[in-house]
Amino acid sequence: MDAFRIVGGHPLSGTVAASGAKNSALPIMAASILADGPVTLEGVPELIDVDMLSRVLYRLGVHVARGRDSRLRLETVDGRCTTAPHRWVRRMRASFCVLGPLLARRGLAVVSLPGGCRIGDRPIDLHLKGLRALGADLRIDRGYVIAKANRLRGSHVDMLGPSGSTVTGTANVLSAATLAEGRTTITGAALEPEIADLGRFLIAMGARISGLGTSTLEIEGVDRLQGVIHRIIPDRIEAATLLLATAIAGGKTTVTGVQPAHLSSVLEVLQRLGMDLWIGADYVTVERNRPLAPAQFIARPYPGIPTDVQAQMTAVLTLAHGESSVCDQVFPQRFEHLAELRRLGAAVQREGAAARVTGVMHLTGAEVTASDLRASAALVLAGLAARGETVVHRIEHLDRGYERLEQKLTQLGARIQRIREGRERTQPKLRLAASA
Ligand code: EPU
Repeated sequence: MDAFRIVGGHPLSGTVAASGAKNSALPIMAASILADGPVTLEGVPELIDVDMLSRVLYRLGVHVARGRDSRLRLETVDGRCTTAPHRWVRRMRASFCVLGPLLARRGLAVVSLPGGCRIGDRPIDLHLKGLRALGADLRIDRGYVIAKANRLRGSHVDMLGPSGSTVTGTANVLSAATLAEGRTTITGAALEPEIADLGRFLIAMGARISGLGTSTLEIEGVDRLQGVIHRIIPDRIEAATLLLATAIAGGKTTVTGVQPAHLSSVLEVLQRLGMDLWIGADYVTVERNRPLAPAQFIARPYPGIPTDVQAQMTAVLTLAHGESSVCDQVFPQRFEHLAELRRLGAAVQREGAAARVTGVMHLTGAEVTASDLRASAALVLAGLAARGETVVHRIEHLDRGYERLEQKLTQLGARIQRIREGRERTQPKLRLAASA
């Protein structure tokens, strides 16, 4: 297992490019099952989650090959397999996105229930409700969802749940509806840009969809979809993480290859924190010229502040001058990072679905352990600002969703190094006082 060793206190400077969006690439890879010909995706980040979904797809008869320049080629070579086993689905929730495409294209889908998660309860009732509305005969047997349909039928499906619209639920139903007979209306569709990207991919394959980017999607089913070439949108969460790294470490950096409109809620918070911003057509520059101001914010579905940057923003607020509060309406239990931030000297308290943050003068390097993807990023950010050396253990969580983050941060002047646990010393240097 790998860890990061970070020597904090070095302001960042320079330019770095955003990778393709993980949360766009995964449902689009799953939807390639729908195509009759080969699919080429451009801008697919090299991530553990992409590898894991590739393995699931391989089990489902889809040949997946990595090309140069972040290209991925996917082609169904055997359409008979319909089971996505527990072994893989339990390791990555997004592999549940194969359910809709499998059912629509192959008439049968046997997909393991994805199970629990460190960021809180993550039900799938809306996915199942949506596919049932399209006429699927669906049951749960020994931990597997078994869904059958000779051909799905267009219907009205609502994707709004108690905490907002479901993102991957919308992806599953949208993908499935493209091959259904007749017209489907999805109301309460997730507004996240990754859903619009999936919609554009499906349209390029021949699907008839209108309303992309709104909460009502209309889908007119077609008989078949063809292979295409599609470019994945930039990763707004990765870009936000890099901008927040500059907020906490100080300095001036530019993140290129982004769609600034996808980042507007994050940019607004950066401004409230006191950061100076320059926003171009496909880049954002941030500079810290004054102490960080405290802020109050609530993570909400798009276009609100993403839950996927809540932990990183909390890390930044630990060094703001005053009291901040952070609430997560999407995943109210997503606060595992608080205990680890406290190890670095942060004054953070959990209060139900919120965290109260009292800014401290400085953080101090320590050993911390990552619990999930975004919590890991929060700890890396805190380590960049902490005095002395921080070791972030278990960064396999981070490798699931950030493409070579340490290289990008090194490019910006951070002192961060990947180390193999067990092979190298991971203890921070302790300066022992000489005995008298
Ligand atoms: N929900 C239900 N019923 C359902 C599905 C969801 O009540 O059937 C609730 C959830 O409990 C949650 C809310 O709806 O309170 C939103 O969950 P959603 O289904 O939208 O989450 P997801 O689709 O499983 C995606 C991202 C997550 C991101 C969330 C929210 C992918 C592959 N994953 O998950 O990304 O946090 O949307 O934006 O797109 C990450 O990248 O770190 C990550 C966790």
